Amino acid sequence: MFKHDIIIVGGGLAGLRAALAARGADVAVISRVHPLRSHSVAAQGGINAALGKTDEGKIAQRPFGGAGFPRTAYSQDRTGHALLHTMYEQALINSIKFYAEWLVMRLVVNNGRCSGVVGYNIENGKIEGFLAKAVIFATGGYGRIYKRSTNSIINTGYGCAVAYRSGAALEDMEFVQFHPTTLYGTNILITEGVRGEGGFLTNKNGERFMERYSPHLLDLAPRDIVARAIKTEINEGRGFEGGYVHLDLTHLGARKIKERLPGIRQIAMDFANIDPVREPIPVQPGQHYSMGGIASNKKCETAISGFFACGECSCISVHGANRLGGNSLLDKNEGEPFFKLRDELKATMDENVGIFRDEQRLTAALTKIRELKVRYKNVYVRNKGNVFNQELVNAIELEGMLDIAEAICIGALARKESRGSHYRLDHQERDDVNWLRHTLVSYTQDVPVIGHKPVNITMYEPERREY
Ligand code: FUM
Repeated sequence: MFKHDIIIVGGGLAGLRAALAARGADVAVISRVHPLRSHSVAAQGGINAALGKTDEGKIAQRPFGGAGFPRTAYSQDRTGHALLHTMYEQALINSIKFYAEWLVMRLVVNNGRCSGVVGYNIENGKIEGFLAKAVIFATGGYGRIYKRSTNSIINTGYGCAVAYRSGAALEDMEFVQFHPTTLYGTNILITEGVRGEGGFLTNKNGERFMERYSPHLLDLAPRDIVARAIKTEINEGRGFEGGYVHLDLTHLGARKIKERLPGIRQIAMDFANIDPVREPIPVQPGQHYSMGGIASNKKCETAISGFFACGECSCISVHGANRLGGNSLLDKNEGEPFFKLRDELKATMDENVGIFRDEQRLTAALTKIRELKVRYKNVYVRNKGNVFNQELVNAIELEGMLDIAEAICIGALARKESRGSHYRLDHQERDDVNWLRHTLVSYTQDVPVIGHKPVNITMYEPERREY
């Protein structure tokens, strides 16, 4: 049994920021991987801040989609890498204790109060208890329930699922963001910063098609609009064979590309055998960010006393509907390999709960997910070992992925309108009369139950903009 005042689950930017805010107390961070391998390291284009440009020119800011001013502060196209290394260094300087390579499987909740977590030590297969006065989840998003995703493979949403099964509600799960430009084939992120620096999209006929979808903002329209535009071009036969369009930055010149976008150039060369100095990059939309998550308020409090959530695993609703920028398994020798179910889940999410949704597809997805939940009871893992048994960890996470996928489908089916990232072909208009409200999904008596809560409107009424 381990004991700390504050336990933070997740070693990415949100988790490290929480740890540094609590420095001086007895703080420990439990992380699924080494903190420097957290998905935050993959953030590319920048971080928005209303700074202006500083007089000394010390903080560079670039244009990003949907923004009226270049307010995305950046470090080349490796912003997450720079931030994460700095935060981790500060955490070490401040003697934060780290438990790396642990999977947190349960919250310990008694009489509505959280007093710790149960963790699985991936290094040796042992299960241990952690006692704490406060537990903060910063476990990241749920992108990997989709096949095409920019997310790291650890982003299965398992933290959200653990919280959900422990009594915390999930909020606005149907709002799943698709990034317009991911590398065709691997779906590695190709930052919006490329278009911020002047890159543009073309279809197989060489047309700058964004002129038709967003005459004012063109390639720098909000990313849901650009993602739908690319998908429409592909669906209507103006994409390239296989389903992609071109992102052209050749006109920027070698010097600018090497200075501002060196990571993108390297990714294109390493994974597509293309040098963007000379050739356009083949891109297609892919899941990128989870607006929904563990229902939390602006103090990161949840419905469970002593349990907090921050970062992408939480839904504090700062982004609204959009965003700018099993243990008994070891005994089983028969049944189905877990990865078969996982592949089927990802395929149905891409096909039926993606950029364009409708009742028929969403119902088909929900039926499929519920079938997979029944089949999950009969999955097996081949590796029976205790040391770094990633197969077992992935199988455990799959149970959470199925819960998360079900919550997304339930929310998306119920929300009979289009808003932000959620686009229903059968309900294409935004409906503020009936749907200006958040979705909540709670795990009650072993079944998901849907509820709602009002939107907290402060300084600005929701507006309708022409792009
Ligand atoms: O395109 C990008 O660099 C993504 C940024 C973000 O999602 O914040």
